[in-house]
Amino acid sequence: MLDSTKLNTDVFRSDSAYVKRDNNIADKIVEFLDQKMEYILNHRAIEHPFFNHYATHGLPAEQSQLLYLETRHYFKYLPYYICGIASLLDDDTDIENNVVRFIAFNAQDELGETKSHSDMYKEFMYKKGITPEQLKTYRPLPSTVALNEGIKNLYNTRPVARALGALYADETLSASLVSKYNEGLKKEGLSEQDRYFWTLHCEWEVGHSNAVFNIAEPYLQTEQDRKDFADGIDQYLQLMEQYWDGIQQLIKA
Ligand SMILES: [Fe+2]
Repeated sequence: MLDSTKLNTDVFRSDSAYVKRDNNIADKIVEFLDQKMEYILNHRAIEHPFFNHYATHGLPAEQSQLLYLETRHYFKYLPYYICGIASLLDDDTDIENNVVRFIAFNAQDELGETKSHSDMYKEFMYKKGITPEQLKTYRPLPSTVALNEGIKNLYNTRPVARALGALYADETLSASLVSKYNEGLKKEGLSEQDRYFWTLHCEWEVGHSNAVFNIAEPYLQTEQDRKDFADGIDQYLQLMEQYWDGIQQLIKA
């Protein structure tokens, strides 16, 4: 179980990672992806003052409910959007097949055999005292809707390199994100059992990020590819930063 709220590239390089990094990727590409990883993990999208405060202090019950209602709307449908990347592919070589393998693997993780992570998240919310009615009627902030819609757009629009850049930001950030949510929940006094959704994901997201790392190389061959990939990362991080700004405004009001 990861217990750090501040991850670095060593965690992703570990041989005990849920999905290990492929050692056959060209040094130049590894260097590029490592640099981007450091950039993602240190960005205000994850090192946000509100979120850091949450990880170290938690929140009073009612405010915490708001946070988790917003969070639900952030990642609602994400597995569906990730599947959208498949429609951007225009050949059926090993390169595209590896992207689709990633998508299938990721969707399998998120949806499980019979119980999806979305179902598990709902159960977690009920334990926090959020009612099914609240869940149904809650209207998220415009910045949260913009994040969700922005991700959908990034995963459904060419170039593929940009979609993969956004996905790399998504999965890398998620590893750190779930650790911080988990720390905040500990401060709020939730038992390990009630935090299961989060502890489970701490390890998984590192593996998901490595899985993107392992399929990205063919899409990072030219200067333009790398520019597009970086653009996907930046767009994702900007949306995420605005998501936190919005929640900070909502909760401090
Ligand atoms: Fe993931």
